[in-house]
Amino acid sequence: MKSLHHLLLLFVVVFSLALSTSADSHEEFLDCLSSYHPEESNSISRVVYTELNSSYSAILESSIQNQRFSTPNTPRPLVIVTPLNTSHVQTTIHCSKRNGLQIRTRSGGHDFEGLSYVSDVPFVIVDLSQFRSIDVDVENEVAWVQSGAITGELYYRINEGATNVTFPGALCHTVGIGGLISGGGYGLLFRKYGLAGDNVNDAQFVDANGRVLDRRLMGEDLFWAIRGGGGGSFGIVLSWKVKLVPIPSTVTVFSVGRTLEQNATQLLHRWQYVAPNLPNDIYSVVSISTMNATGNGTRTVLAQFSSVFQGSANELMPLMQERFPELGLVRENLIEMTWIESLIFLTQLPDESPEILLNRTYRNTLLYPAFKAKSDYVRKPMPEIALQGLWSQLLEDVATTATLNIISYGGKMDEIPESALPFPHRKGTLYKINYNIGWREEENSNPQRYMNWIRKLYRYMGAFVSKSPREAYINYRDLDIGRNNHDGKTSYKQASVWGRKYFKKNFDRLVYVKSKIDPQNFFRHEQSIPPRFH
Ligand SMILES: Cc1cc2nc3c(=O)[nH]c(=O)nc-3n(C[C@H](O)[C@H](O)[C@H](O)COP(=O)(O)OP(=O)(O)OC[C@H]3O[C@@H](n4cnc5c(N)ncnc54)[C@H](O)[C@@H]3O)c2cc1C
Ligand SMILES: *[C@@H]1O[C@H](CO)[C@@H](O)[C@H](O)[C@H]1NC(C)=O
Ligand SMILES: *[C@@H]1O[C@H](CO)[C@@H](O)[C@H](O)[C@H]1NC(C)=O
Ligand SMILES: *[C@@H]1O[C@H](CO)[C@@H](O)[C@H](O)[C@H]1NC(C)=O
Ligand SMILES: *[C@@H]1O[C@H](CO)[C@@H](O)[C@H](O)[C@H]1NC(C)=O
Ligand SMILES: *[C@@H]1O[C@H](CO)[C@@H](O)[C@H](O)[C@H]1NC(C)=O
Ligand SMILES: *[C@@H]1O[C@H](CO)[C@@H](O)[C@H](O)[C@H]1NC(C)=O
Ligand SMILES: *[C@@H]1O[C@H](CO)[C@@H](O)[C@H](O)[C@H]1NC(C)=O
Repeated sequence: MKSLHHLLLLFVVVFSLALSTSADSHEEFLDCLSSYHPEESNSISRVVYTELNSSYSAILESSIQNQRFSTPNTPRPLVIVTPLNTSHVQTTIHCSKRNGLQIRTRSGGHDFEGLSYVSDVPFVIVDLSQFRSIDVDVENEVAWVQSGAITGELYYRINEGATNVTFPGALCHTVGIGGLISGGGYGLLFRKYGLAGDNVNDAQFVDANGRVLDRRLMGEDLFWAIRGGGGGSFGIVLSWKVKLVPIPSTVTVFSVGRTLEQNATQLLHRWQYVAPNLPNDIYSVVSISTMNATGNGTRTVLAQFSSVFQGSANELMPLMQERFPELGLVRENLIEMTWIESLIFLTQLPDESPEILLNRTYRNTLLYPAFKAKSDYVRKPMPEIALQGLWSQLLEDVATTATLNIISYGGKMDEIPESALPFPHRKGTLYKINYNIGWREEENSNPQRYMNWIRKLYRYMGAFVSKSPREAYINYRDLDIGRNNHDGKTSYKQASVWGRKYFKKNFDRLVYVKSKIDPQNFFRHEQSIPPRFH
């Protein structure tokens, strides 16, 4: 009894100490910020928000993409800074470091695990939503884009300058450029031109000491690491010089659904052999969901086969008839449109005008606001029997909101060496699977049954996907596969468990880069690259 009392007392003391430390460092942090900006014109106070500012909550929530991390129990930042200038970023780094606060950098807020706006130690968000200018140089086929821009804004601005070029970025237009390129970044054109990260010529970066570095100053190791090594590990990338790539005036899309009764199993089985070998001009995805079978009230699986082809319907039709006659495409399934329209079509945006690409806060009503997602890479076709097992998991009652997106690799992705960028999922990868299960915000207090379901599915799939390591996409962040210690002291061995899944052998070079640029491990989170010798 007595010892319990002592323990409680100790707890109270430690707890109040922790509280007062965080309150003090918070005040000192604000003082530190204001002391750095003597001239009114560049004052940082215009972009500093604490819980006392009326717009704090609105700014915090503005880009939270996964409502799983927007509950009454989710830790909130002490301060949000929305920089307008490089000096605002430098000052925030300096003052955070001095006062022992962690920084979380947010560009578009799409991190699957909310790492850009949640931390369980006292923290500051550097929110780059106002740091998003875009400078397109049509003549030289390049653009400078600040990290806080979303991909839709970049597509829109390029399209204003020239309709025959674009950037090979994400499908989803609200994804932030900062996080996208930091993790590689794939989209409609990746089988033709590679990842977003494969198409970057230069960058502006701020390190833990507040130094601003471009490619020449940072050197090739760090320039390599920031294009695929995952956001939040090395510093803050301010902007990127990206390459533009040609697009034709007409592209062709199709999207046809096949249920189990319409041979979805055999078709998906066949697709595994066909899609990775299609010409580079084709983006091919199969989206799996379940639906009510007509009439008798049982559910069935729906496989939606969708493609975007960089060319005309007259070229695509014979190609599909030759390569994938089983799908039974007819001419009426093919629709010609512009590249921008194909993006809007494939992501099922309701509004056909390109202006929707500028809407940063747009939320697709087809997606559930809260979700858990995971990923796999497949290097050997799955047998039909394995697909049957997958269907029985999807047809469980809990899984009505589950979806799988199966995205074909091959093409240009096979030609780029595994070590060219930290992103290693290149030659020999047939496709990537993205597993997703969503729920309504009201269910956020107890999403456990959904979490259990997707974890069980992931265990089942282990037998059929890449092994040693079981590969995963860093930009589909998944803390189930491993996480760092809270104290910032994570061993190489521990981190390499998740590190090898995301980066394979490239993990070692990332650790080397981290040890050089941020040996004190100032920039860190649950899955940041640890420095060596910790
Ligand atoms: C609805 C949806 C659709 C998606 N579609 C695609 C897709 O088509 N293609 C694809 O490849 N991925 C896609 N993703 C995944 C997406 O690429 C990643 O979630 C990506 O990290 C998001 O970038 P962000 O800037 O929006 O996210 P944020 O949450 O802002 O950042 C993600 C990570 O990067 C860090 N970070 C952000 N900005 C910077 C910076 N400037 N400097 C350093 N670190 C930074 C953050 O701290 C965090 O760790 C999608 C995700 C969602 C939720
Ligand atoms: C937030 O409130 C503080 C204190 O009232 C003020 O100094 C600061 O300018 C406010 N921030 C913004 C962005 O209005
Ligand atoms: C800071 O950014 C603002 C807005 O982009 C701009 O008006 C101002 O000139 C910049 N100040 C400096 C010192 O760069
Ligand atoms: C795009 O069109 C412009 C003229 O409108 C032309 O100068 C340029 O070469 C074209 N670029 C590509 C990649 O086709
Ligand atoms: C399904 O495949 C079988 C044989 O493989 C074929 O006879 C049948 O017509 C197909 N059904 C549909 C709906 O395409
Ligand atoms: C499917 O059927 C269930 C039960 O009959 C019903 O609650 C649900 O709304 C239906 N879903 C759709 C998409 O029609
Ligand atoms: C329900 O209908 C589908 C066809 O839509 C059929 O394949 C299935 O066997 C039927 N189920 C039952 C229980 O009758
Ligand atoms: C952006 O989209 C959301 C719907 O997701 C809508 O409520 C909002 O009005 C849109 N904003 C603009 C500026 O169109």
